[in-house]
Amino acid sequence: MAKIFATTDPEVSGREKRNMERTRRIAAEGMVLLENSGALPLEADGRSLALFGSGVRHMVKGGTGSGDVNSRTVVNVEQAMEDAGFQIGTKTWLDRFDDDCTKWGKTYVAKYQAILKEKGWEGVNWALDHPYRDPDVPEITQEDMTGTDKRCAVYVIARTSGEGADRKLAPGDYELTEGEIQNLGMLAEHYEHTVVVLNVGGAIDTKLFREKKGIDAVLLMSQPGCAGGLALADVLTGKVSPDGRLAATWAENYADYPFAEEFSYLNGDVADEYYKEGIYVGYRYFDSFGVRPAYPFGFGRSYTEFALGVGKVEIKGDAVCVTVAVKNVGAAYAGRETVQVYVSQPTGRLDKPYQVLAGYAKTDVLAPGQETDVTVTFSVRSLASYDEGAAEYILEKGIYYVRIGTHSRNTHVAAALELAEDVVTERLANRVAADCPLDVLHASPDGYYTYEREAQEKTDAPHIAIDVSVITAVTASYGKDMCGQCSDAGEKDKGRVTLADVLEGRASVHDLTAQLDARELAELVVGSARGGMAGASTVGAASAACPGAAGDTTSSLLESRGVANLVFADGPAGLRLSKSFVVDKDGNIIPGLGESAFGNLGEMLGMVPPERPADAVDHYQYCTAIPIATMLAQTWDPALIEEAGDIVGEEMEELGVTLWLAPGMNIQRNPLCGRNFEYYSEDPLVSGLCAAADTRGVQRHAGCGTTIKHFALNNQEDNRTHSNSHCAERALREIYLKGFEIAVKEAAPLSLMTSYNLVNGIHAANNRELITDILRCEWGFKGLVMTDWGTTDKSGDFKYGSSSPVQCVKAGNDLTMPGSQADVDAIADAVGNELTLEELRACAGRVLELVCHAMKNRRS
Ligand code: BGC
Repeated sequence: MAKIFATTDPEVSGREKRNMERTRRIAAEGMVLLENSGALPLEADGRSLALFGSGVRHMVKGGTGSGDVNSRTVVNVEQAMEDAGFQIGTKTWLDRFDDDCTKWGKTYVAKYQAILKEKGWEGVNWALDHPYRDPDVPEITQEDMTGTDKRCAVYVIARTSGEGADRKLAPGDYELTEGEIQNLGMLAEHYEHTVVVLNVGGAIDTKLFREKKGIDAVLLMSQPGCAGGLALADVLTGKVSPDGRLAATWAENYADYPFAEEFSYLNGDVADEYYKEGIYVGYRYFDSFGVRPAYPFGFGRSYTEFALGVGKVEIKGDAVCVTVAVKNVGAAYAGRETVQVYVSQPTGRLDKPYQVLAGYAKTDVLAPGQETDVTVTFSVRSLASYDEGAAEYILEKGIYYVRIGTHSRNTHVAAALELAEDVVTERLANRVAADCPLDVLHASPDGYYTYEREAQEKTDAPHIAIDVSVITAVTASYGKDMCGQCSDAGEKDKGRVTLADVLEGRASVHDLTAQLDARELAELVVGSARGGMAGASTVGAASAACPGAAGDTTSSLLESRGVANLVFADGPAGLRLSKSFVVDKDGNIIPGLGESAFGNLGEMLGMVPPERPADAVDHYQYCTAIPIATMLAQTWDPALIEEAGDIVGEEMEELGVTLWLAPGMNIQRNPLCGRNFEYYSEDPLVSGLCAAADTRGVQRHAGCGTTIKHFALNNQEDNRTHSNSHCAERALREIYLKGFEIAVKEAAPLSLMTSYNLVNGIHAANNRELITDILRCEWGFKGLVMTDWGTTDKSGDFKYGSSSPVQCVKAGNDLTMPGSQADVDAIADAVGNELTLEELRACAGRVLELVCHAMKNRRS
């Protein structure tokens, strides 16, 4: 019988109320004002507001799939604007859209049911490949607008996406639908101002908003979590200034992204993805190849204006400190500015992007007229580039221009740091080289973006010498001891060792693993689900102890050795659990009763819920849906992101969850990746610092930890489990691995999840070079590594097949999730052949270390 942490009190708890207010504040800080020619803010004066668009009632709080969160309530835009003091004058149009959605939804469900009937659990994948989308919006008629206040219309465009499918370069997704174009035309003609609100998880085509006269403001609301409507109302009415800044470049045309037409399904090949742009991802590409974006990386307007001072740059040892005065020079609104510091590195034997973000800092709220100093610090070492030829990180000699600005197209040179000679910062070995010839892009300064006075700024910049003697080289060692792969044999003759002995210091984890046989060890390194991906207990809800959680570790050694199971739950927009469940008089959870994490999936599968015993007791685990990761990154405020992590950590502690299967931190390589909303940014520094902040917030809570994912190159969702990402080692290290490295080094997350895809020909889950050599040996990661769900599943016929549970162990991937009997058997049977007992003990030992950590700290 599993220990149940959930409450039996159905009332809204103090924790729920408090976290609702906190998530509302965070969401308001992550909204980005893209355009505003005076239409915003709106006065909440009781007017009859023209409020149209798919996202008004059907606001998308976050994407679908494992990234979804089951909160008790979601305050949508309609309700929040009413609460804020507007009357909604367009209810008949909103009702009409509702009716259309209901009909459309019924057709979708019927189709899904038919597929489930035919294929059973495997049919669930159909929904991943064919996610539900609302139909196009109805026409807006003159009658719909009658009686509404003529000064301003607000039009909310919603988009959703989720795991298993990439976004489409089509109307209703990246592009506007015919209905939306017609609606906006109508509003622009009829109202003095039209405000477009984007309730989206990533970039869409924004050309029309700039072209259409009458569209006077565009606000990126993003996907803001369960208090999203309230946060939007706060921003629209000027209670909070929109101080968010983009964490990714929004292109003028989709085709402007590098190799845009080759992404995922667009070139008809979802088995192989070639990262031909190399290190030129996001602004690194747009700036280095002189392509003008619609909205640059780091961009965002405010209700007020800020002025930045000249900036003082100093070097203290290996640290570069940049201090800038920021003043709110507006007259009416308070707000916060983000100071961004970029560096242009010298081109030598390696080509370099025009500039890279080196650090950033956000001011507190500044009242009109108020001024403050902001300091951004970063190390010289962080500016090194990876030279594949020498397998070294190197700072090439020359001038490093430090630039200060407010977005990537508004940076100005503040200093010229001079490095007299080449300096190696790390001596490594190539570990993840491309598995095929890749003709990657190279930039040249001739093609860089430039601006008036840039050359003069460079000439005028104060020169500061970098002291090479303070930059020492680190040499990686890939020996067994360095990477934790070595498990000392432990003492076999300590008597029968239990986990209690380990917890109380009488024995070590190794003493315990030394006494376990191959089968017991195999049980430890495989999650506790035993149905495989097609089994009724799995698909992201395999936990027996905490309904709706994605999986558990084994409890098969509970009686014999006192090893309790651990619960893992998704992420990243909060804690994803079932809202409620039902327990019988003996304390056992009754499957099929309560509000599932999957809505009515069980019912659609034809499962008949069991009869509810009269003495059964309801339990509740309502969680807070925080803003999606992209929106957290848009705050550019690590303290606020830490607070978001703290919300999740508090709920984990309350509900008995050890690991949060988040944050997701893949790089937003192309806007069509279906899971970009779960990721922070196109920039590795932003991704790394955000994940570190999220981790600090979660790990403040006793025994709770994060699982940074998906390691690595999981930048495509179509055929995600079997696609092969081909990428040069320089780009892998500088762009795709860098964020993980920062998070590991800054915040020591307890865990990491490998991705489904292959990395240069080897399944990430089986990739020893990635997991052991880079993650553990080079970066010093001490935590647990687990697979993504069902990566060892063998069903289906794919070019690259599945990963192997045995190779997981050999690679140092400690835990195969959610687990199947086939995984356990394969591992146990391989001992003595493909696998040594020592290799298996090393993984099992790390699982036990985590169990110890959780048990030592867990609320009893
Ligand atoms: C997702 C992971 C998630 C896991 C458990 C997988 O489908 O890719 O991100 O954590 O399911 O739900």
